[in-house]
Amino acid sequence: MPNSTSSNHPNVNNKNGKVQGLSHRDSLTVRDNRTGQEYELPIVDGTVKATDLRQIKTGDSDFGIMTYDPAFMNTASCRSAVTYLDGENGVLEYRGYPIEQLAEHSSFLEVSFLLIHGRLPSQSELAAWIHDITHHTFVHENTKDFMKGFRYDAHPMGMLASSVAALSTFYPEAARIDDPDVRMAQVVRMIAKMPTLAAFAYRHNQGQPYVYPDNELSYAGNFLGMMFKMSELKYQPDPRIERALDVLFILHADHEQNCSTSAVRAVGSSQVDPYSATAAGVAALYGPLHGGANEAVLRMLRRIERAENVPAFIEGVKSGKERLMGFGHRVYKNYDPRARIIKGACDDVFAVTGVSPLLRIAQELEKTALEDEYFVSRKLYPNVDFYSGLIYEALGLPAAMFPVLFAIGRAPGWMAQWLEMIQDGEQKIARPRQIYTGARGLQYPGA
Ligand code: ACO
Repeated sequence: MPNSTSSNHPNVNNKNGKVQGLSHRDSLTVRDNRTGQEYELPIVDGTVKATDLRQIKTGDSDFGIMTYDPAFMNTASCRSAVTYLDGENGVLEYRGYPIEQLAEHSSFLEVSFLLIHGRLPSQSELAAWIHDITHHTFVHENTKDFMKGFRYDAHPMGMLASSVAALSTFYPEAARIDDPDVRMAQVVRMIAKMPTLAAFAYRHNQGQPYVYPDNELSYAGNFLGMMFKMSELKYQPDPRIERALDVLFILHADHEQNCSTSAVRAVGSSQVDPYSATAAGVAALYGPLHGGANEAVLRMLRRIERAENVPAFIEGVKSGKERLMGFGHRVYKNYDPRARIIKGACDDVFAVTGVSPLLRIAQELEKTALEDEYFVSRKLYPNVDFYSGLIYEALGLPAAMFPVLFAIGRAPGWMAQWLEMIQDGEQKIARPRQIYTGARGLQYPGA
């Protein structure tokens, strides 16, 4: 009886049909009905290794069984100690700390340190970290010239993806990814320069001159200044808006193996520099299924027009004519904890900007849906995008900037995951297999 032959699995014994160190309860017995053979595969951390299936063959020329998992619906691609997510119970933790506590008591830069270093900083470490990030917010003057080359109406997300990739040309040493000091220097630059590039993209769109960073402002305050400063000598952000934006960045800082993070890991696995890998993450976030759902929520709220129209809209959703945007999630089958916190941040922002008439429609929609059997039985709850677009709009930002703000918040998460990936001895260049469905052996005309 063949057994698992996974070479880097310490618990496998393929001589006597037993898995050493594991009871039968820690293994999966697979019977191949083509051959009648049975295989015993170790179950570790609730997973079986896909490569353990390769020993299951009908003969020597058989490649062995592969798994087929489009969109990685049921495949763990890595071991990670960065973010814990329990979608059934609505739990999100960065390095073990609940998102609710971080949003209430921490700052985005402290959370960035936590994600990158795996622990909270001491006071002096935090001060040094903030100093480092603040003093790397400037970009090379050539970056500005390069960004000016975009069309006047270029999408800011396209500009961000390109300019993040271009950073690799300004810092060629970033290619030395085996050097821990070089790696950390790029991590600091990435977190520091992302808001500068984002704000330049915004000002470009507005046809306004780019604003240089102000080192006396906080991370979020400086970003607001670079976007909104006009002729005043010193830009002073409203502290409530500054804090709300900082909290939004915290909420977006990481979300384990989502589409853009998987893109950063996959591209980074080629051992390219972190700017090029992160540009892939920004590109993934550009897509409407990832970074763009909050814009769809705003369009939906505008279409509903008035709270009185909510019941009719909900009926349309239930009959399959509509989708309630900002509701439902692939992983969360409970209230997205980030949505709850953003709802609170809405109050702080609207206290400054005045309440958006769309907020009442959103609240009515949420209340109606959460009491309706259709949504209850399908475990459909508000996700992070249900309220975030309302806040961004209240700040005066166009919808095209929404994913850009998401990218600023996600930068430390991408970097933490990239650092983890390149130091993980189990990782190799990402290279999935395929099931070939095309033609074979055709004759080229005249050959
Ligand atoms: N409105 C109405 N019905 C919904 C919704 C919704 N927003 N979401 C899911 N459903 C229904 C589906 O029709 C399906 O019903 P059925 O069983 O009768 O066929 C059931 O709930 C399960 O839905 P799936 O589409 O299978 O769930 P999936 O995990 O594939 O989709 C997704 C998740 C894409 C987020 C989906 O809920 C959706 O489209 N939501 C709206 C868009 C959105 O808000 N996206 C942002 C996600 S958060 C983020 O990416 C940052």
